Amino acid sequence: MFPIESESLKSQVRDFWNRQSCGTYATQAEKYSRGYFEDVEAFRYYDQAYIHEFAQFTRYHGKKVLEVGFGAGTDFIQWLRAGARVTGIDLTPEALENLTHRINVYQLPPPEDIRVADAENLPFAANTFDLGYSFGVLHHSPNTEKAIAELVRVVRPGGEIKIMVYNRHCLLAFKLWVKHALLRGQPWKSFGWAMWNHLESIGTKSYTRPELQRIFEALPLTNIRIHSYVTSADYLTFSGFKPLNLLVRAVLRLGGNRPPWQRENYRFADGQTPTGRSAPDAKTLFTGNYFGFFTCITAIKRA
Ligand SMILES: C[S@@+](CC[C@H](N)C(=O)[O-])C[C@H]1O[C@@H](n2cnc3c(N)ncnc32)[C@H](O)[C@@H]1O
Repeated sequence: MFPIESESLKSQVRDFWNRQSCGTYATQAEKYSRGYFEDVEAFRYYDQAYIHEFAQFTRYHGKKVLEVGFGAGTDFIQWLRAGARVTGIDLTPEALENLTHRINVYQLPPPEDIRVADAENLPFAANTFDLGYSFGVLHHSPNTEKAIAELVRVVRPGGEIKIMVYNRHCLLAFKLWVKHALLRGQPWKSFGWAMWNHLESIGTKSYTRPELQRIFEALPLTNIRIHSYVTSADYLTFSGFKPLNLLVRAVLRLGGNRPPWQRENYRFADGQTPTGRSAPDAKTLFTGNYFGFFTCITAIKRA
C-alpha cells in the first residue's frame, strides 16, 4: 500500500529507535542513572497501568519468557523481578545499552540472553518458550505478519503469546488524519496512511479487528482474545481545543467497554479449571473499547 523497500525501511526503523529508546523522553535525569530509570518506569505505569493486567508478570515465575523489542527494558525488568527465565531481543544497540545498565543499576538476576536481533528472523529454535511477549513493536517491522509468525514459532505448544499492536480505528488515528490529511486538503488519504507516515518511525502499521482476526486465525493458535485499551493518546486527543476533545470523549463512551467474562469460564464443576480462558474451540473474542489505540492480543499455541 505504501511502497518502501523492506530492508531500507527496516534500517530507517532501526535508526529512529536507536536515536532514543521508547519512553526515555519521560526523564531529565542523567542517562542510565537510577533516577533516570525510576522516572521512566514511574511514568510508563502511570500512563499505561493496564500493562500489568495484560502481561501478568508474576504468573511467569520460573517460566521461559521471550520479549521481542524490549526497548528501554521497563517491562523486561518486571519479568526479572518476577523470577522468570527471560530472554530478550531488540533491533537497536541503544535498547540493549539501556537494558544492560538497568539490570546493573538494580542488581537484578541475569537474564538468560539479551541481544540485538530482528523480530522477523528470531535466532531461537522452534517450541522453546512458555511465553512470547511483544508490546508495541511488531507493527514497526516491515513484515509484521512474518514477525508474528516467528513469535508463534518459538513458543512451545500449549505456551502463550501476548502482543500489542496499534488499532487503526482509534481516536489517535483520527487526529493524525485530521492534522496531516484533512487540514492539508487531502481528505482522501487514509487513517493507515496517517499512521504510516506520522506516527513514530516511518512505516508504522495499524490493524482493524477483521485484519487481526484473519492474521491470528491463520496461525496454529487457540483461545484468541483481542482487547483494545483506551490510552492517554486517545483520551487527550484534541485536548488543546475543548469542544473537539469533548466530542472525542463522547465517541470513546460510544465505543463502550466490552468485558471479557464468558459463561464457559465459570463452569468449574464439570471438570474445567478456572483458567480465565474462553473455551478452546471459541472463535476470536473481542473485548475492550472499539476505539482504543492499543490492541492487545493473547492466544495459546495449539498442541
Ligand atoms: C515503541 S518501542 C517499544 C519498546 C518496548 N516494547 C516498550 O513498550 O516500551 C518499539 C521497539 O521495537 C523495536 N523494533 C522495531 N522493529 C524491530 C524488529 N524488527 N526486531 C526487533 N525489534 C524491533 C525498536 O527498536 C524499539 O525498541
